[in-house]
Amino acid sequence: MTAQLNPRGDVAVLVPAAGSGTRLGPGAPKALRLLGGEPLLVHALRRICQAPSVAVVVVAAPPDEVAGVRALLAPVAPVTVVAGGAHRQASVAAALAAVPPDVPIVLVHDAARALVPPDLVESVASAVRAGADAVIPVLPVVDTIKEVGPDDAVRGTVDRAPLRAVQTPQGFRRQILAAAHAAAVDPLTDDAGLVEKQGVRVTCVPGSDHALKITRPFDLLLAEHLLATE
Ligand code: C5P
Repeated sequence: MTAQLNPRGDVAVLVPAAGSGTRLGPGAPKALRLLGGEPLLVHALRRICQAPSVAVVVVAAPPDEVAGVRALLAPVAPVTVVAGGAHRQASVAAALAAVPPDVPIVLVHDAARALVPPDLVESVASAVRAGADAVIPVLPVVDTIKEVGPDDAVRGTVDRAPLRAVQTPQGFRRQILAAAHAAAVDPLTDDAGLVEKQGVRVTCVPGSDHALKITRPFDLLLAEHLLATE
């Protein structure tokens, strides 16, 4: 069934999926890797669309795959598909340019976090709505963290108390994200990192174990289990 968006919502979600790992043909697609028989991107979009504040979803696809990605996603949800750029940041900027001007809150989400709970999307959006310029979902770091040299010798132990592992969606007041992209010099892989460079305060909200990044074979096994038991 095709998901619906809320035309009265105040949130746009951008999904940069224009990396070479998103090729539709044979190879090693990342966003299109199958989970429970469907691409990660499809799972992610379904969950995003279940968040009641979401009015617009923009996916950045490889320029020569736009038509194919559009055809893949049309039965899933009413998403806009644009051509991505040369690197992730350029793809986010291209997706941002396609957001209607009256949408005040913009979230950026990794397709690899395919099982993102709709509640997490809402909690990031509502923290922005409540006044934060930039919001990231985080989890505490549970492992002991060591700094290790190229010779495999331990150089020191990092105090993990203030450390957090960062997830997506990352949320922004729209003008804050647009200004950070306009001012960006070096491409970064993290949108909150861009706004930090502008001196903007980034606020943390609790993340979710279900928003894990599905990258390694073990993650896929865990995600298959989560999908089968939810
Ligand atoms: O390749 P990498 O793992 O850094 O990509 C991170 C995310 O950014 C992926 O979802 C990928 O599809 C996306 N990306 C993009 N446009 C690019 C390169 C990467 O949207 N030109």
